[in-house]
Amino acid sequence: MYTSKNIETLVDVRTALHASSHLSDLLDLIARRTTEFLNAKGAFVQLIDIEKDTVECAGAHGWGERYLPKWSICKHEIIRNQCRLGKILIITDILNDARVQNAAEMWDDGVRMAIFVCLTLQSHIGGIIRIFFPEARKLSQEERSFLVTVATCGACAIESARLLENQKSLYDHLALQTEKLSALGRMAAGIAHEINNPLAGILLYSTNLLKKASKDGPFKEALEIIVHETKRCGDIIQDLLDFSREGEPKKALVNINDVTEKAVSILENEFRLHHIKLEKQLSPELPDTYVDANQMEQVFVDVLLNAIEAVQERGVITIESRLGSDGKSEVIKIGDTGCGIPQENLAKIFEPFFSTKSNGTGLGLAVSYGIVQKHGGNIHVASQPGQGTCFTIELPIPDSIPSKEVTTHPNGSH
Ligand SMILES: Nc1ncnc2c1ncn2[C@@H]1O[C@H](COP(=O)(O)OP(=O)(O)OP(=O)(O)O)[C@@H](O)[C@H]1O
Ligand SMILES: [Mg+2]
Repeated sequence: MYTSKNIETLVDVRTALHASSHLSDLLDLIARRTTEFLNAKGAFVQLIDIEKDTVECAGAHGWGERYLPKWSICKHEIIRNQCRLGKILIITDILNDARVQNAAEMWDDGVRMAIFVCLTLQSHIGGIIRIFFPEARKLSQEERSFLVTVATCGACAIESARLLENQKSLYDHLALQTEKLSALGRMAAGIAHEINNPLAGILLYSTNLLKKASKDGPFKEALEIIVHETKRCGDIIQDLLDFSREGEPKKALVNINDVTEKAVSILENEFRLHHIKLEKQLSPELPDTYVDANQMEQVFVDVLLNAIEAVQERGVITIESRLGSDGKSEVIKIGDTGCGIPQENLAKIFEPFFSTKSNGTGLGLAVSYGIVQKHGGNIHVASQPGQGTCFTIELPIPDSIPSKEVTTHPNGSH
């Protein structure tokens, strides 16, 4: 049973809800429209976080504004229990009802009746509306229906505001991580450049000395070690430069499934040795795309090696490739049933030199990250400690892919 006034008010509230207004503006509107509709003297809305057991005042109108700052803590657990039962709580004996806070003050202000309505969505309580009246009276059926509908609108608004807040903090976290990695990249590039030149000198002189050292002389073995270790340092520097996105990839048109297969064939022995079952689901629909095949192969080898190391013996590693849901990207997922990554390490694994292995350099994923970024793609991870890990690599498909290059032989044949 809805009157035109009732409908007008509800349309107003719903429009504000869909216009993605600021939550406090929307809750102010709910407090005002409820006050007007019920001919009350005022109302205010509180946000309740059951898990954290906190209450926050968020919107008010009329008398509600007077009480707003005073109810930062309320006897919400009593009211919550009532509202859990889906009841609209009507208090007519303001002075003597244990559920009322600041009773004497309210009485002096002229409050003779208060109504509490819970903002509940799918049995989750997001908040509460408190409405104040100058005299006790009965609520009509229409007024009750109105309150129920307004409470649902308010609960939806609170829920979507919370979801937005969660998304924003996730986004902020990712942005911070990306910024941190790019700062590390710049630092790594600086250090790598500085070390590269003296290292080249050491390698040159030690190699020359090694050539001149007599076969059975005392220096040969030491010089071999110097040359070997210097080369190892050179490899690390090269990895750092890769991570820091120095040097653009040499892209060519390839099918990413072929690159994946090549990486798998390189590691075939490792799979066999560790009795690891490999499950492949490579989509035949994937179009060729423009990537540096060597660099992408390195990414797949690094991620697969980590998976092998995590699984150790008799686990399962899965590789899946498919077209992204937008049709503009290719998605490659590499999953394992290994040890998983503890929550506190998840944000660190792409940083250079982060490793939990006694013999790891901690550059595998840092380099992979740099390479995928250079390709305009993304790499991210999901993991459950004790259950396994899944890396997802997304590579963009360019809008227009140039046709495959055709090699023309000097005699004109192909
Ligand atoms: N699939 C995985 N399962 C569990 N932990 C993983 C996995 N992949 C990466 N990690 C964690 O991330 C860390 C960083 O990996 P990354 O490949 O960068 O370095 P690393 O494997 O330790 O050394 P290397 O430079 O030799 O690759 C690892 O030490 C490990 O703790
Ligand atoms: Mg590794």
